[in-house]
Amino acid sequence: MGLLFAPGPVYVPEEIMLAQVQEMYTHRSALFKALYTDLCTRSAKYLNAEEAYLLTGSGTLGIEACIVNCCLPEEKMLVLSNGNFGDLLAETAKVYTDVDNKSIPAGKGWDIKKAKEHIDASDATVFGMVYNETGYGVRNHAKEIYQYAKKKGMLTIMDSVSAWPSLPMDMKEFGVDFFATGCQKAIGAPPGAAILGLSKEAIARFEGRDKIPSHYCNLNRHRKVYKEKGQSPNTPAITVFWAIQKCYDRMDKDGGVAAWVEKHRVVSEYVRGRITGMGLELLPEKGFESWSLTAFKHSKAADVKKALLEKYGITIVGCKAEYKDNGLRMAHMGLFDRKNIEIGLDALESVVKKL
Ligand SMILES: Cc1ncc(COP(=O)(O)O)c(C=O)c1O
Repeated sequence: MGLLFAPGPVYVPEEIMLAQVQEMYTHRSALFKALYTDLCTRSAKYLNAEEAYLLTGSGTLGIEACIVNCCLPEEKMLVLSNGNFGDLLAETAKVYTDVDNKSIPAGKGWDIKKAKEHIDASDATVFGMVYNETGYGVRNHAKEIYQYAKKKGMLTIMDSVSAWPSLPMDMKEFGVDFFATGCQKAIGAPPGAAILGLSKEAIARFEGRDKIPSHYCNLNRHRKVYKEKGQSPNTPAITVFWAIQKCYDRMDKDGGVAAWVEKHRVVSEYVRGRITGMGLELLPEKGFESWSLTAFKHSKAADVKKALLEKYGITIVGCKAEYKDNGLRMAHMGLFDRKNIEIGLDALESVVKKL
């Protein structure tokens, strides 16, 4: 097997993979109740959420669950996008509500200066954006933006799929009402579950609705079964939940969420230094670089990718849209191994020198 530096699913160490090899039990057993209660309780604590739940499915399911429980068809959601995942958020929201999607070019980042005029001008009641735009490795300055949207009285939804726990998150401090992430990225587990964080206001919003246009994603159902039985309403991906629990154990052992965020910040700085040291240009606007992946430009992106895979068994991925042919992304999130990152960068350096 080679080295995997794709931005999800990420490299999963043996310790986490092996956590999935256990004797199966049912989701109606006391053992599952203990597992699920632990995951919901710890997720809520880490995120500073009022409550947290896990849904079986990918990150998109988590985002769609936030939208369907929050957005009313007669209202409007303002989405600030800077890439394919921001557009995906807007597209998903369009299924359930009116959407105003404001975009800036790929590689540019949103900060409060750029966001404020759109929030001020908007009659939307719901606000949403992507914390870390995975398509171009851009870290949006979400904290100030969410705080402002909240101050303006909006309900807020956050796509944190490739952001948490590589970037700071305190839902109460940020003013995030509906938070969604996937377990296959910075958490470091195999794919299969979305983690949702909810504020008090978020809960009041869906508790007060007569009709939520989804059965599976209706959070009133998830909440009720959890409160009454400590279970999920449908059969969950129990093996993935075991893996997530092991990742959380590792995070606690490594010093907790803040220490994990810091390890991502530190490694991202190292990777950026090495890549610019090779004479390559970073794709994101300065000051908006992601901490979980590094996107950079290369005029022969496909050749670099191919040489890395064929010569070294190393997987990195390309970018999308206008950077399809000249953008590359290397992930460094979850339970990455620093030594492997160095091996990957050494290989990249030797490939780049020869092309
Ligand atoms: C920021 C962001 N949002 C949403 C998604 C979609 O997640 P999934 O593929 O788990 O549905 C991704 C996946 O890469 C992502 O990076």
